[in-house]
Amino acid sequence: MDNPQAEPLEQPRAPYENGEALPRTPLEIRILAVLAAARFYGYELDRTDMRIARGESPPPAAYVKWLQNAGMWARATQIRWRQLVAMSDARPVVLLLDDGSAALMVKTDPARNVVWLKDPAATFESEPVPVDELRLSQAWSGLVLLLRPERGLAPDDQPFSLQWVVNLVLREKKLLRDIIVGSVTLAVLTIFPPLIIMTVVDRVVTHHSWSTLTLVALLLVAATLYEAVISWSRRQQILFVATRLDAKMGLYIFRRLLNLPIDFFERKPAGEIMHAIHETAKIKQFLTGRMLATVLDLITLFVIIPVLFVLNPMLTVLILVCGALIVTIIAAFMPGYRRLYSKFIQAEIAKGVTLIETIHGIRTVKSLAMEPVQKDEWDKRTAAAGEANLAAQKYANWPATLVQPLEAIMTRFVTLIGAAMILEDGTGSVGSLFAFMMLSGRVAQPLVSLSKLIEDAEEQRTAVAYASAILNSRPESTNPSAGVRPRFEGAVSFNKVEFTYPGSRTKALDGVTFEIPPGTMLGLVGRSGSGKSTITRLLQGINREYEGFVKIDGMDLREINLSHLRRSFGVVLQDNFLFRGTIRENILAGRPGLTLTDAVRAARLAGAEEFIERMPLGYETFVEEGSPNLSGGQRQRLAIARALIHDPRILILDEATSALDPESEALVNANIKRIAHGRTMVIVSHRLSSIMDCHQIMVMDRGKVVDLGTHDELVHRCAIYRHLWTQQNRHIDAAAEAASATALIQGN
Ligand SMILES: Nc1ncnc2c1ncn2[C@@H]1O[C@H](COP(=O)(O)OP(=O)(O)O)[C@@H](O)[C@H]1O
Ligand SMILES: [Mg+2]
Repeated sequence: MDNPQAEPLEQPRAPYENGEALPRTPLEIRILAVLAAARFYGYELDRTDMRIARGESPPPAAYVKWLQNAGMWARATQIRWRQLVAMSDARPVVLLLDDGSAALMVKTDPARNVVWLKDPAATFESEPVPVDELRLSQAWSGLVLLLRPERGLAPDDQPFSLQWVVNLVLREKKLLRDIIVGSVTLAVLTIFPPLIIMTVVDRVVTHHSWSTLTLVALLLVAATLYEAVISWSRRQQILFVATRLDAKMGLYIFRRLLNLPIDFFERKPAGEIMHAIHETAKIKQFLTGRMLATVLDLITLFVIIPVLFVLNPMLTVLILVCGALIVTIIAAFMPGYRRLYSKFIQAEIAKGVTLIETIHGIRTVKSLAMEPVQKDEWDKRTAAAGEANLAAQKYANWPATLVQPLEAIMTRFVTLIGAAMILEDGTGSVGSLFAFMMLSGRVAQPLVSLSKLIEDAEEQRTAVAYASAILNSRPESTNPSAGVRPRFEGAVSFNKVEFTYPGSRTKALDGVTFEIPPGTMLGLVGRSGSGKSTITRLLQGINREYEGFVKIDGMDLREINLSHLRRSFGVVLQDNFLFRGTIRENILAGRPGLTLTDAVRAARLAGAEEFIERMPLGYETFVEEGSPNLSGGQRQRLAIARALIHDPRILILDEATSALDPESEALVNANIKRIAHGRTMVIVSHRLSSIMDCHQIMVMDRGKVVDLGTHDELVHRCAIYRHLWTQQNRHIDAAAEAASATALIQGN
C-alpha cells in the first residue's frame, strides 16, 4: 500500500462504526468490499485469515484464496464493460479498482447502459449510485472478483464416499477424454500386427511376394512407432489424473480431519484414524490404477471381439463362453472372500492401534519396563493378522485355480481347435488362425483383470466404509463462518450448567453457577475429577452439549463463532505440545502479521525472555520433537508466551504449573500478576499457593460448586479448602507453632 503504516488487520475497525464513514486506505476499502460481498451470501469472513504483510497490497489471488478458505467459490478475472453490464442478476460483484481499492456492484441496467455501485466503506443505508462506462473506465480497467457459495462436486462438507471419489475422477473431463481417445487408438493399433502376420503367412509365404513383404514391413514399423507414442501419452495423462486426485483428496481429508471436534480424537485411538487415512490412499490408487487400466482394457475388448468374429465365429463363441465362465466363478467366490477380507482388516487395525499406542506411550512403556507386555500384545496381534490374511488368500486361491484352465483354453487350446477345423473342412486360412491366436490372448487378460477388479472393489468397499466412518463423523461446526464475532470484554458467567461426557453416566458438571467480572481472576480448586477442566473445556467450546447457559459478556456461547471464540482465549495446559521449529515460530504459532517484536513482548510477559536469551541461538533456537532441549519450566513459560501472543482477553491456565519443580513454579507464579493485568483469568491448580491471590476461588467437588469466595473467607468457612490449606502448609504451621511455643516459653 502507499501508506506503509497501514493499520494492522488484527484489530480491525468495525466496518460501519457509529454509522458514519471513516477515512480509509484503499486496501481497507477493498477488504470491506470483499467482506460485504461475502456477507451477502451469508458468509462471515474472518479478517485474521487474510494474511497481509504490512505495507503491501495483496494480489487478487489472495482474496480468492481467502474466500475459498471460507468455503466459497471465487475467481479474479478480467472482463469488459459489455460483459459487466450483462450480469443482470442482482448479485454483488467486487470491482477491483486501479487505485487498490474496490467498489461493490449491486445491480446493472443494460437498458440504460449503467451499473449501480455501492461504496463499501459507506454506511449500511447508503444508496447505490448509477455509473456509466466512461466514468467507470477512469478508475477501473476490468478486474473483477466474482464469488458465490461453493456448489458442485467437491466441497469439503460433502460426506466422504466412493461416489465422492468417483465424481472427483470424473471431474477431470478433458484428461479422461484424452485418455479414452488414446486408448481407442491403441486398441485399433493392437489389431494391426496380427492382421499383418495373417497377410504375411497367407500372401507372402504362399505366393513368394517380395513387394507385399516390404509394404507389410513398413506398415509394421510405422504402427509400432505410433503405438509407442500413444502409450507414452496415455501413461502421461493417467499420471496427471492420479496426481491431481491425490492432491485434492489430501486437502479434503486433512480439512475434514481438522474440523472434527477434540472429543472425537479423545475417543478414537490415533491408530484407527491413521488407518482410515491410509485407506483413502488405497482408494485413490485403485481408481487411477487398476480401475482405469481395466476400463481401458475393456475398450480394447470391444474393438477386438468384432474382428475375432470376422476371423472365426465358432472360436469366438467358444472364447466368450469361457470368459463368461470366468466371471461367474469369480462372482461366486466373492461373498466368502468379502467376509474373510473384512476380518483381516479388523486384525490389521488392531495391530495398528497397538503400534501407535506403544510409540505414543513409549516413555511409560520403558519406565514401567512394559516392553515384554507390549511385545506379547504385538506378537498376538501380528499372528492374528497373519492368520486372517492367510485365510483370505487361501480362499482367493480357489477361484484363481479354477479360472486357470479356462484361461488356457482361451489362449492355447483355441489354436488346436482351429487347426482341427482347417484339417476337417478347410474353414479359414492358416494366417487367420495365427491372427486369431494372437488376438484371443488379448481377450483373456482384460477378463481376468476385470474379475480381479471385482475382487479389488471388495477391498475398496471395506476401505471406503472404514474411512467414511471416521471422516463423516459430525464436524465441530457445520458452517465455519456461523456465529457472531464480538470483541470481548471478558465477563464470563455460568448459569445452572449441567454436563455429562458422552458415554459417561455421572454428571461431570452439576448445576454450576458462577460469574467472573471482566479483568478479574478466578481460581479453581478441587479433587482430581471434580470437573475443573470440564469448566475450561466448555468455555472454549470443546464440548457443546451442555444444559444451562454459558455466557461471555452476556452473550450465549453457542451464538459465538467457534474459531473466533478460541482465538480470543489463551490456554496453557499441564503438558503443552511444542511444534518442531524455532522458539520464535513456536511463540508466534503461525498467527498472521506478527513479528519477532511481538514474540519478544510475549516472552517478556511470560518470564521466558531470560532463558531464551541465554540460549545459543536465542529466538532462533530449534525446538526438537518432544522438546528435550528445554526443561519443564522453560517449556511451560514458552507455552504461556504462546498463549499471550495475541493478547487474549481471557486466559486459562489449567494445572499449568502443577508439573513444575517449586523453583520454576515460583518463577511462573511471580509473572502471573503481571500477566493478569487487564485480563480475565481462570487458573486451575491443586496448589493453593498459585491461586490464593485470586479475586475469587471456587471449590469444586464431584461436579458441584462447594463454595466460592476469597482465600481468607474460604479458610474460615470451607472445610475442604481448609483441609487442603493445612495439608499444603503443614511445615509453615509447624514452624508457626514452634515459634509461638518458643515465644510462650521465653515469655514465661
Ligand atoms: N474426555 C472425557 N470423556 C469422558 N469423561 C471425562 C472426560 N474428561 C473428563 N471426564 C470425566 O469428567 C469428570 C471431571 O473431569 P475433569 O473436569 O477433567 O476433572 P478435573 O480437571 O477437576 O480433574 C471426571 O469424572 C472425568 O472422569
Ligand atoms: Mg483437570
